[in-house]
Parts: sequence; C-alpha cells; structure tokens
Amino acid sequence: MEIELLADLIVQAKKVVVFTGAGVSTESGIPDFRSPGGIWSRYDPEGFTIQKFLSSPEARRMQWKMLTEGGLTTQGEPNPAHYAIAELENLGKLDCVITQNVDNLHQKAGVPENKVFELHGNMQWAICLSCHRRFPMKEVLQWITEGIEVPDCPNCRGILKPDAVFFGEALPQETLTEATRHSENCDLFIVIGSTLVVYPAAYMPTHAKDVGAKLAIINLSPTPLDHYATVLIQGKAGEIMPKVVEKVRIKLQSKSTKS
Ligand code: APR
Repeated sequence: MEIELLADLIVQAKKVVVFTGAGVSTESGIPDFRSPGGIWSRYDPEGFTIQKFLSSPEARRMQWKMLTEGGLTTQGEPNPAHYAIAELENLGKLDCVITQNVDNLHQKAGVPENKVFELHGNMQWAICLSCHRRFPMKEVLQWITEGIEVPDCPNCRGILKPDAVFFGEALPQETLTEATRHSENCDLFIVIGSTLVVYPAAYMPTHAKDVGAKLAIINLSPTPLDHYATVLIQGKAGEIMPKVVEKVRIKLQSKSTKS
C-alpha cells in the first residue's frame, strides 16, 4: 500500500526534502487558502498585493484586518504532521523542509531553524520598510487591538509590514537559492498539503523531478503534478504522516539489528 511504499522510499533515500503548503497546518486550526472556506474564499487575493499595501493607509488597514481576523497570525500549535516531519530529522532522514507557510510550526515542532527554508517569509515578525527594524508580530497585534489600526514603525514612523511575502513581492533570494539547490540535490521529494499552483515555490518539485528524484504527494485534493508522483496519497497529513514515520522507524530499527 502507498504508506508502506513511501516508508520504503524514505528508508532507501539518501536525501529527503519535505515541501509543505498550508494544508499541513489546517489541522492546527490555521485555514488554508484554496480549500472551500479557505482564505481566498473569504478575501480577494487582489486586495493583498504589495502594490495595494503600499498604496494607501486604508489598504494597509484592510490587510492588517484580514491578517488578524483571517487566522493567519494565530499562534497555532504543531499538529501530528509537523511532529512526524520533525521525527524524520531525529531518525536522520531529513535533508530539509521547504515551506510556503509563514506559521513557524515546523520550527516549533523541532525541525532545526537551519533546515527550514521559508519561501514566503514568516508571520512572527513585522518589518519597517524604511529603517528595516523588526518587531515581534505579537506586539504589533497588541497595538492593533488597542486601536492602532495601521501600525507604523515606532522607531522612524516608516511603513510597518508583516515579514511575509505579499503577492507581487520578490521572494527572499538566498532562501529561494538554497531551496532550489536542495531540491536539485535530493533523491526523494515529498509534497505535503499544497495545491502547487503558486510560483516560483511550485518549481521546487519540478527541479527535484528533473534531477531524477522520486516524487511523493500527500494532499487532500488533486494537484497538477499528481501524474509525476511515484507515491500519491489522498488524505489528511496529520493522519498519514505519523503512520509513514512509524513504519520508517521500525524499518530502520530492523535494518540496524540485521547489520
Ligand atoms: N492534509 C492534507 N492536505 C490538506 C489538508 C490536510 N489536513 N488540509 C488541506 N489540504 C490541502 C488542500 O486540499 C489543498 O490542496 O492542502 C492544499 C492547500 O493548498 P492552498 O490552500 O493553495 O495552500 P498553498 O498550496 O500552501 O498555497 C500556496 O498561495 O496564497 C498563497 O502565499 C500563499 O503560501 C501560499 C501559496
């Protein structure tokens, strides 16, 4: 069965890259974007470009409102999928995590910071676009609840922006370069919880496939790359990943007792 096959591929692989999207965090209570009821079914993505954000204080008020109400800044907790991915690290079977998520949950679940590449930044900080000082998002959200609907930089009064990548904004170049390099140097690439429709993030699985890596996809709904997948498991990451990693652990144990 597919779970057994994925566990075998992980055991045999030399470099396993895990690539995640919002679907890995929905079981932590953080909404995804394109599922029914997701963020873009409640807010128009057009309203959340960097151009719009910079255009006026009213646009910034709307975006801060969406971020606070939309659940994107909630301090969710890692779910069993995050912990299973972190367990791969403990088993010595994780090259890195490339994530589109800004929720910091892979790090919270125990994946070392230097093994998490956040292609779309991180919602834990807000950054001033003038003096580039960063402020904990928790603090900025506190100012908003206290009535400052469009917070600006306390240091220089510059525009304060969540440190996540907005549509129309360049991805952090070094992170993108590193994520690409890892994608091009792995032999197993596991996609978890993404529609794979947003670029350049969605190039990562293609980079891996182009160098002959095997592709596994764990997702609730179909993706444009499903036909390339050696393993395709339609289901909830929080249920599937712990089963996969448990089988990996047992297989590694029996391997080490045999040798
Ligand atoms: N287990 C597995 N898959 C799930 C689960 C779950 N518990 N919950 C949702 N999914 C799947 C959905 O079926 C969907 O295919 O995860 C996918 C989430 O896709 P999106 O909502 O499009 O999220 P993502 O692919 O991360 O979006 C990429 O788009 O809006 C931008 O910057 C934003 O980083 C985001 C990017």
